[in-house]
Amino acid sequence: MTALSIGDNRWSKKNPAPPAVRHSRPGWRCSVRPGFGLSQLRRILWPRAARSRCPFGIATVLELPLGANASVSTDSLISTDVARAAELLREGRLVAIATETVYGLGANALDERAVARVFEVKNRPHFDPLIVHIADGQWLARLVTDVPAAARQLADAFWPGPLTLVLPKSNIVPDLVTSGLPRVAIRMPSHPQALELLWTVDLPIAAPSANPFGQLSPTTAEHVAATLGDGVDLILDGGPCSIGVESTVIGFDDGAPCILRQGGLTQEEIEQVVGPVQSRQNPASGPPESPGMLPQHYAPRTPLTTTESADLTAGSALHQSLAGQRVGLLLLEPAHSLISGFEAIEVLTTDGNLREAAASFFAALRRLDAAGLDQILALPFPDEGLGRALNDRLHRACHR
Ligand code: TXA
Ligand code: MG
Repeated sequence: MTALSIGDNRWSKKNPAPPAVRHSRPGWRCSVRPGFGLSQLRRILWPRAARSRCPFGIATVLELPLGANASVSTDSLISTDVARAAELLREGRLVAIATETVYGLGANALDERAVARVFEVKNRPHFDPLIVHIADGQWLARLVTDVPAAARQLADAFWPGPLTLVLPKSNIVPDLVTSGLPRVAIRMPSHPQALELLWTVDLPIAAPSANPFGQLSPTTAEHVAATLGDGVDLILDGGPCSIGVESTVIGFDDGAPCILRQGGLTQEEIEQVVGPVQSRQNPASGPPESPGMLPQHYAPRTPLTTTESADLTAGSALHQSLAGQRVGLLLLEPAHSLISGFEAIEVLTTDGNLREAAASFFAALRRLDAAGLDQILALPFPDEGLGRALNDRLHRACHR
């Protein structure tokens, strides 16, 4: 892995870009073959390289789209045509977009009719508000009335990226977007194609995950086509999502950040910037502060259960309780102990790396769901880093 720092010289007269573009975060690296020159990189990156002004006009980050899916599908619903996608969004149509977390079902956030169609196509209850995606600090200033100091710190550190901030909304944000709440959820995605689209369309884009309500989130264009095909006007193909679980949602209580949904940005990373934060995703009483955090969510159709033991050998307690059933297993890494008798096994990593596991989590659950099983068993993830977001998805998927 080679970290790249690219200064102003990568922008040509033909392809003007904002002045301060630099690749700065250690996490954002890309593989470059030895001997691969900057001019070659430039040719590959532009025009798909994402330009992003930072929310408060300070640093700017470039994520390199090497490895992104550049092919054009023969299916006209799936495309890589960003200009066409922008045109459709301006006309009030729906476009599924790739982000680094999961695919979103995008609509112009300022167009109530388009937003209403998002709810309709997803079959999403109107009490569950949408995240608004931006690529530009100027839109942030138009959409919210206040940005607490901790929110600024977090945005500076992690935007563009898998972080959603819930902030007091301005009058231009339709109530439909926030389900009548006085706050709006805002995110600046880091996927280069999403940023390019947001820059091209120059509108805030409301985008929930592009799946029917309550079902598994999509991490490829094909996943979207399989479940929402008819309801969406275009699916912008940005390849498989690199993070694979939804963004971390953060709200503010008198300026103090609290996690409303664990997601692709870990609590540990957040705490390094703003100190200890509370996690409020499951309030002991009263309605959840993030109305979409329902006990049942992210669910495959096949019943799913978590289990500490995957001993399905003849005679084991688990074996007896599942007698005669076709059972599939989802686990983080190859297990040394007694696993046998499963119809299908999905092992997410070779070494327990939680980032790798997150990136393949939803796709693996989809494969198990399509395998004609009676039951899926999953071993819980370590409760740290991205494991928290994965366990949250697992527990909601299990709830019936
Ligand atoms: O990574 C992601 O966040 C993806 C991509 C497409 O950006 N989007 C996504 O959207 O996961 P969705 O709609 O599936 O989940 C949005 C979550 C819900 O739990 C919702 O309740 C919460 O964000 N949310 C949205 N607006 C909110 C608000 N105003 N106050 C509190 N929670 C809010
Ligand atoms: Mg969702």
